[in-house]
Amino acid sequence: MNHLDPQRHVRGESQYLDDVPVQQGTLYAAVYESPLAHGVLRSLDLGAARRAPGVVRILTAADIPGQNQIGGIVPDEPLLAEGHVHFRGQPVALVLARTEAQAHAALKLITADIEPLPIITDPRRAAAQGELIVPPRTFRIGDSAGAFAGCAHVFEGVAESGGQEHLYIETQAAYAFPTELGGVKIISSTQGPTAVQRHCAVVLGIGMHQIEVDVTRLGGGFGGKEDQATPWGCLAALGAFVVKKPVKLVLDRMADMRMTGKRHPYSSDFKIGLDADLKILAYEVTYYQNAGASADLSPAVLERTLFHTTNAYFIPNVTATANSCRTNLPPNTAFRGFGGPQGMFVIESAITKAAEALGVLPSEIQRRNLLREGDRFPYRQPAEMCHAEQAWDTAAELFDLGGQRAAIAKFNQENQLFKKGLAMMPICFGISFTKTFMNQTRALVHIYTDGSVGISTGAVEMGQGVNTKIAQVAARTLGISIARIKIETTNTTRVANTSPSAASATADLNGKATELACQALRERLLRHASTEFAVEYEGISIEDEQVLAAGIPAETTWEKLVSSAFVRRVALTENAHYATPGVHFDASVEQGHPFAYHVYGTALTTATVDCLRGTYTIDSVQIAHDFGQSFSPAIDRGQIEGGAVQGIGWMTLEEVSYNDEGRLLSNSLNSYKIPDLYSVPAVLDVHFLDTPGHPNAILRAKAVGEPPLMYGIGAYFALRAAVRAFRPSAALPLVAPMTPERVLGGLYPEFVAAQAQLA
Ligand code: GUN
Ligand code: MOS
Repeated sequence: MNHLDPQRHVRGESQYLDDVPVQQGTLYAAVYESPLAHGVLRSLDLGAARRAPGVVRILTAADIPGQNQIGGIVPDEPLLAEGHVHFRGQPVALVLARTEAQAHAALKLITADIEPLPIITDPRRAAAQGELIVPPRTFRIGDSAGAFAGCAHVFEGVAESGGQEHLYIETQAAYAFPTELGGVKIISSTQGPTAVQRHCAVVLGIGMHQIEVDVTRLGGGFGGKEDQATPWGCLAALGAFVVKKPVKLVLDRMADMRMTGKRHPYSSDFKIGLDADLKILAYEVTYYQNAGASADLSPAVLERTLFHTTNAYFIPNVTATANSCRTNLPPNTAFRGFGGPQGMFVIESAITKAAEALGVLPSEIQRRNLLREGDRFPYRQPAEMCHAEQAWDTAAELFDLGGQRAAIAKFNQENQLFKKGLAMMPICFGISFTKTFMNQTRALVHIYTDGSVGISTGAVEMGQGVNTKIAQVAARTLGISIARIKIETTNTTRVANTSPSAASATADLNGKATELACQALRERLLRHASTEFAVEYEGISIEDEQVLAAGIPAETTWEKLVSSAFVRRVALTENAHYATPGVHFDASVEQGHPFAYHVYGTALTTATVDCLRGTYTIDSVQIAHDFGQSFSPAIDRGQIEGGAVQGIGWMTLEEVSYNDEGRLLSNSLNSYKIPDLYSVPAVLDVHFLDTPGHPNAILRAKAVGEPPLMYGIGAYFALRAAVRAFRPSAALPLVAPMTPERVLGGLYPEFVAAQAQLA
């Protein structure tokens, strides 16, 4: 089964928000953003902008009929700045004009009187000043302090990973229409239709039932539209509500980059202790998460970092403390992996530092400490159906780890100006929203009288192929052809109170709800058939051909079955609810069973560094991955390839940089590089491990969205190995991304130090 959408995409037939035909009278919105990162907002001068051509209205916080509040986890985020500004790019006012150009022109006429306040961009400085979003949290197992005393080797260090721009192809956007009962309908490019609905209701001071959010598909999300589609939805809705005209708001690329949050940068202290046999006995880590100016999803991201503190390893004594630090940057947010990658980078850094100091290969420590069946994570859930060793050993054997190592050693001996490096990267990623209550959804399935089927769920299609998977599940369960099935838009009036499409769990949750609804319909139709046609239908497919093949009368094909059921007044609609069984977590002791299951895998990555220029190529990424029983191997392979490359980007090329004034320097594609065709590894192998899957996974096919991103961490350590092959003494700080500049710094530390002095 191939992804159902790409043919329509490449023909330009797929409708995105900006393709929705514009309704007469539509006004275009543009956002006036704070020019300073921190200050007291004394006044706004809107006079000239109000008189500008085409301007219909300019809205500020004072125009908000309900609460000026869009904070989700913590109520600390105004929709429009009021009293203070907390980051550069914070929305302050909304211009509504007859054309987009007029709205943007008017922005330039607005001035704000802001009394500057001190700006903090560094998370450790924020923590030192007590600027924490939520109280720190600590996950603990065993006695790390005591265990260090018994360790043969103890190493300490600092690891830092940078931000990451989502760079969804479709920028943030919303299109809102006033409805006749004083409500609003919003077409939104959001991963979380209910989040947009809920916050719009708060902002407008009306019930959620007055707000309808509809999503056809997104041109990418990657977490950037889990929570941060909400402000734009609310702003468009505010405009439509106040002015009683349709309002369309589409951010241009640079505004999107300036105004929205990104992956959280982390700075972390670690301490790792090993015995003489390289068994890791103890690990302590303190994370400083750069949350930006308000909470957004930061506390949940922080939590997932703690859950992934030990990656795919068993460590008996762990103390992990996490701080979410408030800075004057745009609120950082969900990004594929959701804090997991940041935690996993630190443990890999600690292992690598230990290996380098001990003169062993990192892989010797990695392999020796992989999780085994029944091992407890620091949060006490046991590793069940654990495939960590299987993934590693399969990758090592299938991709000839020994042979590749020998070839690289030979290459490095024979070449002075080019050096190669290799790294193994095992992953273990927990599947489920870490907030247990979010693991629920519903599916609404209609069978029409002609036998065609329409399905609505809480799932948002953002390119990941969830619609294809849901159609496959329905086709299999009903026993009909996929051609009969349509996946409807995601709409809050059809499926209510949904979680965002996130946490890699969308196909599992919405697929299971669809399966339940279709099972109920199937049973009802079979029951009807056995009375109507006196045929025993139990256990056979009801699609036409198969029914015929089973020797059942031709008149009982699917269409006949459905239409006769309708005449007998059998319900042809089903609404099913699914909640992941067995998940729970008690935050008061930081213990429980938060995940439905874990996904495992291992990547073998090789890289070549040009030791004159500091440039490099990631040559190969070879992955053995635990898909369970994939029923969409083409889609699943695509997720692994895309995720790995996105992770490589985060770890190598992509450098989000702000200056001390909190101004984004990497504010366009000239200054922010993501992997392109030329930087994708020439070899990108994906091997499907032979694993049984998990009963909590849809049709036993495990979640594939986020786990592969973390394979990209291998690229960082492969590059590090190559640099050290050139200069074994290189004291490379454990700082990501490994840009060519950082590689040069490792290759020629004296030169770089001299340059810095000259500057
Ligand atoms: N995205 C990835 N993981 C999670 C999670 O646990 N919670 C939420 N809200 N979003 C996620
Ligand atoms: Mo979340 S990073 O939107 O899966």
